[in-house]
Amino acid sequence: MSTALSFSLAALLLLMAGTGGSETAVTPGCQTSCGSVNIPYPFGIGMGCFRKGFEIDCVDNGPVLAGTPLRVLHLSVDPDVSQVMLPVGWQCYNASDPSYVEVQSNAESEMNKDGVYRISNTRNMLVIIGCNTVGFTVSRRTEGSSYSYAYYTGCMSFCNDSASAEDRLCAGVGCCHVDIPPGLTDNYFDFRTYDHTTMMDYSPCDYAFLADRTNYTFRRSDLRMDRNRTSPVWLDWAIRDNSSGGAILSCANATMACVSAHSDCVDSPNGPGYNCKCSKGFQGNAYVVNGCNNINECADNANYPCYGVCKDTQGSYRCTCHPGYRSNDPRTERCTPIFPLAAQISIGAIGGVLVLAFLSFGFVIHKEKKKTSEFYEKNGGRILEGAKNIKIFKEQDLKPILKKFNFIGKGAFGEVYKGVLNEENVAVKKPISCIVLEDKKAANEGSNSKNQFANEVIIQSRVIHKNIVRLIGCCLEVDSPMLVYEFVSRGSLDDILYDKKESLSLDVRVSIAAESARGLSYMHSEANATPILHGDVKPANILLDDNLMPKISDFGISRLILRDKTHTKLVIGDQTYMDPVYLQEGLLTEKSDVYSFGVVILELISRKKATHSDGNSLVKSFLDVHKKGKKATELFDEDIAVQGDMERLDSLAEMAVECLNLDVAKRPSMTQVAQRLLILNPSRRS
Ligand SMILES: *[C@@H]1O[C@H](CO)[C@@H](O)[C@H](O)[C@H]1NC(C)=O
Ligand SMILES: *[C@@H]1O[C@H](CO)[C@@H](O)[C@H](O)[C@H]1NC(C)=O
Ligand SMILES: *[C@@H]1O[C@H](CO)[C@@H](O)[C@H](O)[C@H]1NC(C)=O
Ligand SMILES: *[C@@H]1O[C@H](CO)[C@@H](O)[C@H](O)[C@H]1NC(C)=O
Ligand SMILES: *[C@@H]1O[C@H](CO)[C@@H](O)[C@H](O)[C@H]1NC(C)=O
Ligand SMILES: *[C@@H]1O[C@H](CO)[C@@H](O)[C@H](O)[C@H]1NC(C)=O
Repeated sequence: MSTALSFSLAALLLLMAGTGGSETAVTPGCQTSCGSVNIPYPFGIGMGCFRKGFEIDCVDNGPVLAGTPLRVLHLSVDPDVSQVMLPVGWQCYNASDPSYVEVQSNAESEMNKDGVYRISNTRNMLVIIGCNTVGFTVSRRTEGSSYSYAYYTGCMSFCNDSASAEDRLCAGVGCCHVDIPPGLTDNYFDFRTYDHTTMMDYSPCDYAFLADRTNYTFRRSDLRMDRNRTSPVWLDWAIRDNSSGGAILSCANATMACVSAHSDCVDSPNGPGYNCKCSKGFQGNAYVVNGCNNINECADNANYPCYGVCKDTQGSYRCTCHPGYRSNDPRTERCTPIFPLAAQISIGAIGGVLVLAFLSFGFVIHKEKKKTSEFYEKNGGRILEGAKNIKIFKEQDLKPILKKFNFIGKGAFGEVYKGVLNEENVAVKKPISCIVLEDKKAANEGSNSKNQFANEVIIQSRVIHKNIVRLIGCCLEVDSPMLVYEFVSRGSLDDILYDKKESLSLDVRVSIAAESARGLSYMHSEANATPILHGDVKPANILLDDNLMPKISDFGISRLILRDKTHTKLVIGDQTYMDPVYLQEGLLTEKSDVYSFGVVILELISRKKATHSDGNSLVKSFLDVHKKGKKATELFDEDIAVQGDMERLDSLAEMAVECLNLDVAKRPSMTQVAQRLLILNPSRRS
């Protein structure tokens, strides 16, 4: 039954492709294959079956590029490549006078008369074989009509004696290979001539050819290989019509060959011109009318997973849980019952009562709605509507995420929940209720607070830096607005240092410090006209992604909270990391963040948690040791101390000490810290 079904489906698809083809140059009589090779349009055999430049001949049941003897092994539309056997270039020395070349061939072949091909630089390499030779490939310019050579690329090979060359080793002895640039148009080779007197018996000829990067293995016997040999070469093809005298075509100004619905034009990655691809969610041949067909994602669970009910749509698919089940994202997470069975039964029993209750609460809901729009106004909704890269979520968008189940932690701003919005993993921050109360007071005091909040959110949303957690949007329909951030997968530096105890090499730690410093430095000096201060720099606010790339979180949150507090000198940060000067004077500056960062560096190199309750003993002991002019070796984490890179460890400790200086003026700026860490950072990821 199911095979019959798929049979008729296949027949239908064929039929569709057939009727589609009749409207283009592909006439129903066109041959779709030759031997075992498929011939997709724009390739074709015989008049009216191909696009100019893409003609194929079928000779002895094998395809060749029309008008040439060049065998075709493979033709495909996506990826847009062909594989063709091309001759090797060679030169052989005169046996009676081995300092002269007797016969040679440049292997020039008419494979690119119409200019549709470029030699694929990603799939091929140039191979030179010989025992005393420099060989190279020569190619003309890709654009322009005059024939001038634009590329010479090659390599050198030498053998000390007949036993030097080794099988499988193409590394300069008997054989060498080299990457080629994009844009090559010709299969054309040349050599330098060197005396072969001592090597005529084992290497009478030199060879040059293009070969599959992953599929050529040198054999010593290749030093005497057949000169008539051909090599499989990948060609990138594209629509490169040159009718207007060598003018360059791109998707911007092409007469479109992308005739199928649901197709896209893509500029060729190799040479001028463009290719046609089926759009996302479709597959087939974009060069043929109706050539792109919807992919039935539901029939392919391996590539398009769905744990719930799958429903195919044009170009995509829907995946939902069965009623009564839920999942954050049924495409990646199993659906689980919303209520356990026992609860379901009791819910059934009291269902009737609830209906009555709902009715009577109707008017309450009405009131809630009115409140919702008031909150929206109060939180600056009108101002934020005009901001570009900030999304405004509705309360009901976020409601499913704010479940115990999704709770991931508590920060200075409030509770944090993990969820999925618009297919993106997000962290939703919901303020704690005490702020809500004070918020009301502030709201009554005037409309200025709403502008402040909105402006703060706009500033944050403009900050796009790889070392800072990105603000995606906010929800204003609640008393105290919720903020939606990108979700950072590996958790915080605090977790990784102390809870998970993942092993961390010195390189990784330096890199974490360097990248975090870049984020802070960016906020202090580049992101905005006035510096944006953090106010609560600590390992718990440094999040790490899959590659252990740090992203600073909770930036500016301090100010969001402070604006609502009526008492001005309230300290909201973590006292452990707090600059003592700020504690005394109450003025937060960039240098306060520098101090906190100094404590973070100490924790990174010691893997000891700094705490306020023990009188900041970690910081104290470091500073004491340093004051006595000694190295803080015993305080370093053993894991990295045994790696023996004491010089870098000492530099880090030194920098921490400078950051912790009680004389604010003597602390380096965050930018200086970032620059110095960059030098210590081996990976220098930029
Ligand atoms: C090979 O070298 C010999 C000696 O120099 C010369 O007579 C002969 O013509 C050469 N052969 C060719 C094909 O050049
Ligand atoms: C491209 O130009 C060459 C020479 O100017 C011409 O022979 C060839 O037919 C043209 N090809 C196409 C596809 O227009
Ligand atoms: C190089 O060749 C010479 C003579 O053929 C031989 O004596 C010598 O050992 C070879 N050297 C190496 C490193 O193979
Ligand atoms: C490698 O090349 C050989 C012949 O040249 C061919 O039979 C084989 O399929 C190729 N393998 C791959 C992975 O392309
Ligand atoms: C190479 O091809 C030429 C011409 O097609 C032919 O004369 C010659 O015999 C061939 N050589 C080998 C070794 O097959
Ligand atoms: C097509 O656009 C490309 C750049 O997009 C430009 O270089 C080329 O000259 C244009 N060709 C024609 C024929 O307008």
